[in-house]
Amino acid sequence: MTPEAPARSFASDNTSGVIPEVITAISQVNSGPAIGYGEDPHTEKLRQEMNELFGRDVTTLLAYGGTGANIVALQAMLNPWQAVICTKSSHINVDECAAPEKFLSAKLIDLDSKDAKLKPDMLKEELEVLGIVHHAQPGAISITQSTEYGTLYTVNELKEIIDICKGSGLRVHMDGARIANAAASLGVPVSEFTCDIGVDILSFGGTKNGMAYGEAIVVFNQDLASAAEYIQKQSAQLPSKMRYISAQFSAMLKNDLWLKHASHANMMATQLADGLKDIEGVELTQKTEVNAVFAKFPAEVKGRLQDWSYFYDWEQENEVRLMSSFETTAEDVKRMLEGIRWSMKGSATGGC
Ligand SMILES: Cc1ncc(COP(=O)(O)O)c(C=O)c1O
Repeated sequence: MTPEAPARSFASDNTSGVIPEVITAISQVNSGPAIGYGEDPHTEKLRQEMNELFGRDVTTLLAYGGTGANIVALQAMLNPWQAVICTKSSHINVDECAAPEKFLSAKLIDLDSKDAKLKPDMLKEELEVLGIVHHAQPGAISITQSTEYGTLYTVNELKEIIDICKGSGLRVHMDGARIANAAASLGVPVSEFTCDIGVDILSFGGTKNGMAYGEAIVVFNQDLASAAEYIQKQSAQLPSKMRYISAQFSAMLKNDLWLKHASHANMMATQLADGLKDIEGVELTQKTEVNAVFAKFPAEVKGRLQDWSYFYDWEQENEVRLMSSFETTAEDVKRMLEGIRWSMKGSATGGC
């Protein structure tokens, strides 16, 4: 008999709903009018909370989504002749419909990396063109933390590549669509792997971790703050009723809810990966360091499983991505593993 599918699929952390505290926070700021475009008391409160979180005065701008946050951040740090170094599998390179190229009018120097992490040697090679007028000049790097392949930079790895960049005058952008998962996994304050080590602007994700929508652009380098504000409006990323995003972020930061939910999502992915290791014929293709598991299934098994409980194909042949979220339960993990075992058995016997 076909096993019961998990109540929540492993397609993406985007498929999850919204955490109740966020819904409550939205309804609480919904009484009476408030000035738009961030001039309201809720947004001011969030700005203070972000200053506390990072232990310094930062400029917090709120945008509709992650692509928008990334393009505002990168535009604020580039001159017209400059380029952005990123990995081939980075979201800005493959999943933003060339919005960065369109808005920045700049080249993305997309480097091959098996685990989606930039490495010091890769960077050093690209920096050899600095000062040569015939080449687009690397002006910034974009680091995704945690990465699109569910991997994580250690604080020391980040320090090393950021030091190289700073030594050559490059700016540093961090795409933190899943910064909460990274912070929960690293177990250190978020400032330790962002502003303390030289990140200039962070795209601070909220949606994948339980908000309805909205991301923050956190500008640490105050030389870039004024430009970022104008660019935000010019790029159609300045929400008028901003209080509904501010309230969501405040709810996430209160009592470290953002870390609690991200830790849970990470733990569910670890349980799933641990279960997959014991299933013959399944190969894990990346380390599971946050809330994503990458694996290869035999082709016929993959298709059958996707019909049963949908998840996405990934880059390599027969490679898939399984993602957990704050909503994933241990029961979902158990059912997913049962379904995979059942499917693998069907593959061995030719039945099912
Ligand atoms: C690494 C990364 N950056 C940014 C985003 C933001 O995308 P969106 O514009 O859909 O909010 C995503 C969403 O999938 C992502 O995975």
